[in-house]
Amino acid sequence: MSTVEYKFTYEVVDSPAGLKADDAALLKKAQEVTVNAYAPYSHFRVGAAARLTNGQIVTGTNQENASFPAGICAERTLLSTAASLYPGVPIETLAVSYNSENGPSDHPISPCGVCRQSLQEFEQRTGHPIRVLLSGLTGDIYIISQSTQLLPFAFTNDELK
Ligand code: THU
Repeated sequence: MSTVEYKFTYEVVDSPAGLKADDAALLKKAQEVTVNAYAPYSHFRVGAAARLTNGQIVTGTNQENASFPAGICAERTLLSTAASLYPGVPIETLAVSYNSENGPSDHPISPCGVCRQSLQEFEQRTGHPIRVLLSGLTGDIYIISQSTQLLPFAFTNDELK
């Protein structure tokens, strides 16, 4: 028997002042677009903003539905928008933030399991890692160098070949 360790490292900065200017602007965009979320059920507004390798900025927000499973997270809204507007263009960096009516937005949230799976496939199909910035409206900012680090043992289309 052997034991295998899985670990990854990420960076933490305590304010946007610790980010490069383009990353700080991207995070600000993710925070700003939370107003566009449609979240009448959870009152949890998520905003995502991505910088593509062609320099374009794409955003997404969560869009809920009275039939709860029909709702879609901000990250997957963004991925669909990016792939529709700029097919084949990789995402360089993705920022995610939120604004909750139920509590403070002072710590990072991270993508749900379904979104991690979708991020994995987006990385794979574009052949490019997606850097991820996670933060509330205030507080620490996590910088993760590749979204697939959030999904060890991912099921991928390699298995379907
Ligand atoms: N949500 C996102 O949009 N992204 C996440 O990373 C976590 C959760 C949304 C789904 C739902 O509309 C609301 O937040 C509460 O779960």
